[in-house]
Amino acid sequence: MYQIAPSILSANFAKLGEEVDNVLAAGADIVHFDVMDNHYVPNLTIGPLVCDALRAHGVTAPIDVHLMVKPVDRIIPDFAKAGATFITFHPEASEHVDRTIGLIKESGCKAGLVFNPATPLDILEYMLPKLDMVLLMSVNPGFGGQKFIPYTLDKARKVRAMIDAGGYNCLLEIDGGVGPANIREVAAAGVDTFVAGSAIFNARNAADKNQFDTVIAAM
Ligand code: DX5
Ligand code: ZN
Repeated sequence: MYQIAPSILSANFAKLGEEVDNVLAAGADIVHFDVMDNHYVPNLTIGPLVCDALRAHGVTAPIDVHLMVKPVDRIIPDFAKAGATFITFHPEASEHVDRTIGLIKESGCKAGLVFNPATPLDILEYMLPKLDMVLLMSVNPGFGGQKFIPYTLDKARKVRAMIDAGGYNCLLEIDGGVGPANIREVAAAGVDTFVAGSAIFNARNAADKNQFDTVIAAM
């Protein structure tokens, strides 16, 4: 099953609830929620308050919290309380990756590891059986609207083979520079869950009430 996860990093934050309602009504499956701390990555975004506000607004779709923060552990319970479904983190941001995965699961959320383009996959040898999601970055984290890095397709093929070989129930998500022009090639590499920020939210057409239908249908 393929799933589309719009990254709200590219949404209009002045009307975030409405933006999320619109992409979900247009066929999106998951809300991708980028958390940046101006320390692990050079940008500053949103925290648990905003996740909680989306739940209070009535969003029932899975919320995929992508933590680009360091340290990572102390914010996990707050996101769990705020209604996160998935919590993913970068291994470079945690002193004890196995413990952080445990914290996420104990808090009642699904756990994922995120690999930057240059980060090797070795850690999956022992961690993959514990994971609900592997998130491959196809840009360097920190900003929307960057260009897809092609060698990450090779990493996707490798992770797909590992997931299939072990028969794991683990989503393979990709994040960065994905849109209608390359999504088929990315799917062919074994990815099942597609984050798209600028490709979706920049496709707005003020004259078109359901402005996100066309781009999501093309994905
Ligand atoms: C980048 C974020 C992405 C970003 C994707 O650090 O993790 O989720 O918003 O944006 P696009 O789809 O515009 O590359
Ligand atoms: Zn992201």
